[in-house]
Amino acid sequence: MVNPLSQKNVNKMKNHKRFDLDENEIPKKWYNILPDLPVALPPPLSPATNEPVGPKDLAPLFPMELIRQEVSTDREIQIPHEVLERYREIRPSPLIRATGLEHVLKTKARIYFKHEGERSPTGSHKVNTAIAQAYYNMKEGVESLITETGAGQWGSALAYATHLFELACEVYMVRASFDQKPHRKTIMELFGASVFSSPSKNTDFGQQILEKDPSNPGSLGIAISEAISHSLRNDEAKYSLGSVLNHVLLHQTVIGLEAEKQFKMAEADLKGPDYVVACVGGGSNFAGLSYPFIRAKLHNGYEMEAIAAESVAASKMSDGEYKYDFGDTAKTTPLLKMYTLGSDYIPPPIHAGGLRYHGVAPSLSVLLDSGVVTPTKFTQKIAFEAAKIFVNSEGILPAPESAHAIAATIDIARRNKDKDITILFNLSGHGLFDLEGYRKYNANELE
Ligand SMILES: Cc1ncc(COP(=O)(O)O)c(C=O)c1O
Repeated sequence: MVNPLSQKNVNKMKNHKRFDLDENEIPKKWYNILPDLPVALPPPLSPATNEPVGPKDLAPLFPMELIRQEVSTDREIQIPHEVLERYREIRPSPLIRATGLEHVLKTKARIYFKHEGERSPTGSHKVNTAIAQAYYNMKEGVESLITETGAGQWGSALAYATHLFELACEVYMVRASFDQKPHRKTIMELFGASVFSSPSKNTDFGQQILEKDPSNPGSLGIAISEAISHSLRNDEAKYSLGSVLNHVLLHQTVIGLEAEKQFKMAEADLKGPDYVVACVGGGSNFAGLSYPFIRAKLHNGYEMEAIAAESVAASKMSDGEYKYDFGDTAKTTPLLKMYTLGSDYIPPPIHAGGLRYHGVAPSLSVLLDSGVVTPTKFTQKIAFEAAKIFVNSEGILPAPESAHAIAATIDIARRNKDKDITILFNLSGHGLFDLEGYRKYNANELE
């Protein structure tokens, strides 16, 4: 096996080129795509009445400002000063030209990536919304936030953000990842959060599942049900979600808004990249990078392909149905119109735990249905192979989720070897807590 740190290999790695912004160039407003969607967003419905849910129905779960953002049709939403101050500690993230990867692939395509794992204290893009959500909850007097987490990236980000704003935090972590990534629990606990393996004995739903199947690996759908039922039992607590909903995707648009400025520094004479690529669990990092570019595509006649990369283990965009479905397995959430594999679907326990979700954000579903975004899917093996090529050519270990975006990028670059194109992808997080998966890959033990 090639040792990525051997002198020969280091010399082979090209210097990658960085495009850094100054901290005062961090966007001051988030971009809301809702008024620009080609078709109006179908509203969430109450399962009891089949009528659209209103702010009152959501108030037990979320603070009012986040509910306002959820339904807002304002194209831009001001980032509060206190959130911007916290963003300055962890942003801007760099745009990097992957010259090493281009070299290894022997492609003429120019490849850029936004590195959300570099300055993030917990390793991924998830802090962009965690900080905003903790801030709005703190402002409205909430004392505690309860959430679920797949691979642990979201739970760690919320544990960090609640610590910043002095809130308590409880996290239901999907059992498959709880067992694969024990140190995610350690970091959440260091920030003061309590972490439970889901399905758990804390909730009736978790207990029912464990009685039927004691070795159930859990899923994001089950963990969401547990977190919601726990938060509804506690008047001082609210629920917090790390993807799917409009307000979460909105907060992530700092990624693409920064990337637009950085892309102009890198490729002044181009309107934008020819391909924008990101992986999809619930859709937040994909939306974060691509929605500002999609705005230009929808309004300014700029031609670009937006590629959403998912796991074969949870291929809702490629193989799911576009219909109203529950966001969780216990069927407690409002019905969301989305591409879904069904709220009962439990994906196999792949290492990219953040991609193990049965549905995808309603706004992204509209874009998929209108052909503005194209889905693609990869097996865990291909994603890990892409990660290996990337760590050997760029020296950065990607999160297994992000490796799906790298697999898609490599596929595009290889298919367009002789073409003068540019690809931009989101490296949503680093993989330094995912070493058990990489150990298995090295030992040829991955399913
Ligand atoms: C590093 C990383 N990338 C991507 C995702 C997928 O989530 P989303 O689609 O919301 O960005 C996750 C989810 O946990 C993640 O941890």
